[in-house]
Parts: sequence; structure tokens; C-alpha cells
Amino acid sequence: MTILAIETSCDETSAAVVRNGEVLSSVISSQIKLHAEYGGVVPELAAREHLRNLMPVTQAALHEAGVQIEQLDAVAATQGPGLPTALLVGFKAAQAVAFARHKPFLGIHHHEAHLYSPWIRSAEHRLGSDATDQTGRDGARRSGFGSADFSHFQPNISLIVSGGHTLLVLVASELKHRVLGSTMDDAAGECFDKTGKLMGLPYPAGPEIDRLAESGNPKAFDFPRPLLNDPSDDFSFSGLKTSVRYFLRDHPDLLNNAQSVRDLCASIQAAIVEVLVAKTMRAARRNGVRCVTASGGVTCNRALRRELARRCKKEGFELRLAETNLCTDNAAMIGILAERKLSAGIQPTLLDQEITPGWVLA
Ligand code: KG4
Ligand code: ZN
Repeated sequence: MTILAIETSCDETSAAVVRNGEVLSSVISSQIKLHAEYGGVVPELAAREHLRNLMPVTQAALHEAGVQIEQLDAVAATQGPGLPTALLVGFKAAQAVAFARHKPFLGIHHHEAHLYSPWIRSAEHRLGSDATDQTGRDGARRSGFGSADFSHFQPNISLIVSGGHTLLVLVASELKHRVLGSTMDDAAGECFDKTGKLMGLPYPAGPEIDRLAESGNPKAFDFPRPLLNDPSDDFSFSGLKTSVRYFLRDHPDLLNNAQSVRDLCASIQAAIVEVLVAKTMRAARRNGVRCVTASGGVTCNRALRRELARRCKKEGFELRLAETNLCTDNAAMIGILAERKLSAGIQPTLLDQEITPGWVLA
């Protein structure tokens, strides 16, 4: 089965071609620079940029995969959640291709797709030094982006952690999951971005805090760990942000000292990472799974990756982190999930279906 997948839920325009578990191509055009000037994603600008980029991105994905539009067996797109005007661009374009080619169409839940992104391995990782496998089946040229390996799938606790969401999900089996907890206010990525803004760092501040924290002292300042010992699997990050705001109001001189800024970054990051890791590990123990996975933009954070790795090793859990190029939003994960669903006999989405911007993962 060959599937074209499109993702435009926020500020990344992405298209991918997936065939039999292989990601033949994955093209992502990020709008980060466009929105940086405004300190956050501007929905109207995001939609206009998706409109501008969707055709070239889709053409590039088909070209890199060596696939003609006539060869597609199905089309998939993110249906929700996301920014309404942004979602509309990719969803309607994908429906139009499906309509014109008389092919099945599948609308995909963005977070459900994140659950499976840690199972996608890039080609280099999978092939090692053996480059001979780069020639695709049926004579098609493929970019060798990677493939989804579900042969080792096992029940897992999945942490989805991005600028818009923080979720803990029990994935009991393929295509079967239950949300255990989510953030009650700000997402973890939002906390990175907003506390970074308070320190005068450019948007999005997450990667910059990660970079500065590497040479900072995580114990220099003691910030709260919200809901750390709360029995629920929920998160809350707005109190941490407020605490940083008041701390900086009372100690404004810290921002004039480069080492203090690095210490602040390391201390804020340590608070966020400790809560994320502790609650993820506790959920894994409580639910009797042996595997932990993580995805979403914040999963790029090096301290989070290191700490999850250390704790999983110590406690004997298998850890699957989405590769950094698949942590942020991408169409490859949409295509991989769509293929699993269609192969499992799940019915296509009717072409008169609309986007669901507020779709909550259950
Ligand atoms: O998944 P994503 O691209 O978009 C959505 O929010 O859906 O995630 C973006 C978020 C931003 O908040 C950004 O600051 C954060 O991920 N982020 C990071 C890092 N890289 C991206 N946060 C901490 N450390 C990083 N290295
Ligand atoms: Zn996402």
C-alpha cells in the first residue's frame, strides 16, 4: 500500500510517502522563523504559509519517493487537534486528492500519530553501513528515510510533550490506547518558551534553554516541581512559570550575568524534566508495562533524553525515544499510522468530514 500523508496542524508544513511500513520520503517546511518575530504562532500567518508551501512540499515528497500520484493507494491527513485554519489547508488538499483519484482517505488524530513515531527508525540507524538496500522494491527510487518497526512492539507508557500538549498515554497494544493524564494548564514546551521569554531568549526558547543549560548548574536555583507527588497522572506547569516570573522580578540583576542565565536555564529545565520523568516512570510501574516511549518537540531536549535513558536503564525498562527529526510535527507519523489503520480494516473517513480542531485523545 502506498500512502501520501499531509500534516499542517500548527507551524510545520509536511508531506510524506509511506509504503508497507517504509517511509519513502518525509519533507518538512518549518515556519519557526516566520513566527519568531511575534513570539508565538500566529494562526492567520500559519495558514497562509501552509497554502504557499503545501504544493512544493507535496511535490518534493512524491519526487523523493519516486512515486507518481497515480500510484497512490490512499491519502491521509491530520484531522485534529490543531489550529483550525492551519488544519483546513492540509486536510482539504488531501481530501481533494482522494476525491480526484477515487482513493480512500483517512483523517488522523495528531496525538495518536505521535504515539507511534518512536517506532520509526531512520535509514542510517536501520541499515548501518549497508547501503545496498537503498534501492527500493518495484524499481522505485526511495530516499531511504526510514521505516516503522512494529515487530518488537510491546505495551508501553508514552509521553507526548510539545508546545501545545503534555500527555501520558498507556498504549496497551497497537491501535489501542488510553490517556492517563494531561496538563491542566500550560504544556511543558510552553513553560520552556514562556520562562525563556522572561529571560529575554528568542522564540521558541526551548532549544536555547537546552543549549545554555548544558553549561549551567541545575541546582543553582530551586524552582517548584508542580504535581510531582500528586497521585494523578496529570501535569501543571503554569505555577512554575509564575514562580520564575516573581523570582526574576525580585532578582533582575541575574539576567545581566551570563553564568547566572545559564544556571537559571539549567534549574528551570531540571524542574520540568524531573516532573516529566518521575510521572512517566511511575505510570510505567503502575501499569505493569516494560517499555517507555516519548515524542513531541520537547523530546529533543537533551536533559530529558538523558534522564529518561538513565532511569529506564536503572529500572529495567526498554526506552524508545522518537528520533530528533521525528520529535516535532511530521507527516511520516501520520502516514505510518494511517497505513496501520487501513491494514487493520479501519474504515476510511468520508470525504464530507470536517476538521476537528478540539479533538481530545481519549
Ligand atoms: O512538537 P512541536 O514542534 O510543536 C507543537 O507544539 O506541536 O514542539 C515545539 C515545542 C516548543 O515549545 C519548543 O520550545 C520545544 O518544543 N522544544 C524544546 C526543544 N526543542 C524543541 N524544548 C526543550 N528543549 C529542546 N531541545
Ligand atoms: Zn505534535
